[in-house]
Amino acid sequence: MRTHFCGLIDESLIGKDVTLCGWVNTIRLQSHTAFVDLRDHEGIAQVVIERDNAAAFAIAGELGYEYVVKVTGQIRRRISVNDKLKTGTVELLAERVEILNAARDLPFALHETPNDDMRMTYRYLDLRRPEMQHMMRTRTALVRALRRYLDAAGFQDIETPILTKATPEGARDYLVPSRVHPGQFYALPQSPQLFKQILMMAGFDRYYQIARCFRDEDLRADRQPEFTQLDLEFAFVEEHHVQDFVEDLIRHVFREVRGVELDARFPRMTYEEAMRRFGSDKPDLRNPLELVDVAEAVKHIDFKVFAEPANDPAGRVAALRVPGGAELSRKDIDGLAEFAGKYGAKGLAWLKVDDLAKGREGINSPVAKFLDDTALAQVLALTGAANGDIVFFGAGRWKTVTDFMGAVRLKVGRDRGFVENAWKPLWVTDFPMFEYDDEAQRFVALHHPFTAPKVDDIADLRANAAVAVSRGYDMVLNGNEIGGGSIRIHRPEMQSAVFDLLGIGADEAEAKFGFLLKALRLGAPPHGGLAFGVDRIAALMAGTESIRDVIAFPKTTSAQDLMTDAPSAVSEPQLKELHVRVAAEAPKA
Ligand code: AMO
Ligand code: AMP
Repeated sequence: MRTHFCGLIDESLIGKDVTLCGWVNTIRLQSHTAFVDLRDHEGIAQVVIERDNAAAFAIAGELGYEYVVKVTGQIRRRISVNDKLKTGTVELLAERVEILNAARDLPFALHETPNDDMRMTYRYLDLRRPEMQHMMRTRTALVRALRRYLDAAGFQDIETPILTKATPEGARDYLVPSRVHPGQFYALPQSPQLFKQILMMAGFDRYYQIARCFRDEDLRADRQPEFTQLDLEFAFVEEHHVQDFVEDLIRHVFREVRGVELDARFPRMTYEEAMRRFGSDKPDLRNPLELVDVAEAVKHIDFKVFAEPANDPAGRVAALRVPGGAELSRKDIDGLAEFAGKYGAKGLAWLKVDDLAKGREGINSPVAKFLDDTALAQVLALTGAANGDIVFFGAGRWKTVTDFMGAVRLKVGRDRGFVENAWKPLWVTDFPMFEYDDEAQRFVALHHPFTAPKVDDIADLRANAAVAVSRGYDMVLNGNEIGGGSIRIHRPEMQSAVFDLLGIGADEAEAKFGFLLKALRLGAPPHGGLAFGVDRIAALMAGTESIRDVIAFPKTTSAQDLMTDAPSAVSEPQLKELHVRVAAEAPKA
């Protein structure tokens, strides 16, 4: 149909006959000549249609944006070179122009960024835009580089079921009713976790899969209900084997896809340190601001807002010094306090340092009056505040303060231009094994229930469950959790004990995970692994904030596909066949 790609014509073709196919990117109709920029996935070529060629010129008059056309003619040198185009020194003088498909009533112009709903409804138009083409190509390059590396390293690429049994990763399941087993449901996998563990028990030693995962959870810019993991598992390993291998893998793909050289060894930080210094378990190390604990300095003061949490082991008083922040206005500060409020802050105390030499006189703060000289001096010393700085304070429950001060740190860092333009990967390790869920009044797993604890002794784990540390690890890049994994439990007794601690009784454990417990009793090697969020890595590589830009057909924040209009109602006979009755008022199919 065509002889060349639009974006690849060059001077070597001058004088040659070619046929190009593509979309009309722009069209300029002059009295004697029509100029059409024709676009395909490789780029743009200028097509010239002259009035002398009456048939072609007539067709040029019918063309509109995004028409699909086929043009045959001769390549010639351009009189006025266009530096902005890769093909800018040549053009195609049309002999024959054929419209292959019209595009009438375009809902938006491709050179504008349309609103989100429009982009999703007409995703094929959105994807035609060169920046989207570029982002999708970045993703392809990433996946290709990952596969090549793992294939060369001797990994088995094995597919695991999509119609399966629930694998808990902390989200709700998507369920699929069974027609042949009335009242029974498959679950779509939240991850291939149990299958990959069982593959290790099956003797495959090293496995990977580019796996689709399904999680019914609240969506954000970095979360989709279906997303893609690079899922990995290794037999006979400890933490450092997995971490070293995948670090090399990530370094390799960043070099190959982006030409970026990441740190030779990623720093490792415990969960406790990350939360304490950065108020996050996925700290963005491009931001130099740090939280400082000042409880010791304010334990003795009368100001209850500070003194109470300072004296409570479950409380926290944290300070955040912002260099040069004294210039923030009352409005800026109130805005930040309101922002912190969204993360549970009851207030955001602050202190501006105008002139340290003037002592108390040189401090501007609504809370300075509550701080005696000792407390004030200690706070200034602990935070290292200098003239022109502002210090923010968060006080209250440890988790709440950590969360809102972490959020304030990120926002202020971004707003005030502290965030370095760099790649800052790290490992976060030593996660708590369990988190206490106040509502459910029981422990829940911080990673998943198959993560091994650091202690080998079951009695020890039971006795110290609240402070038990797991063998889990996350890889973090520029404030994004790009991967997570762990060394797994491979002893059935330990697995049963962990189920028990999570409030999963013996009967329930047998019903839900009996197959795993059985396999663990039949020769299970020690094993561990990790899964990367492919969409997140692709988004980082493509330089976009949203993983939707690197997923061809993503869902909206309310989990809809606006293009196909999914989810949608189904017919009564279909429901009947599936033994399903709809309780809610559903729109008619
Ligand atoms: P985890 O739940 O941490 O671990 O998931 C691994 C990685 O997948 C990405 N990710 C997501 N990306 C887009 N949308 C989502 N909704 C979403 N949820 C997670 C993140 C995350 O780091 N089975 C374990 C892995 C293991 O233990 O080996 C697991 O799924 O980048
Ligand atoms: P109040 O005594 O409530 O008027 O608070 C005095 C100052 O302390 C105000 O600047 C509040 O924003 C701040 N503040 C109140 N509660 C907290 C808190 N939990 N953490 C940090 N600052 C707070």
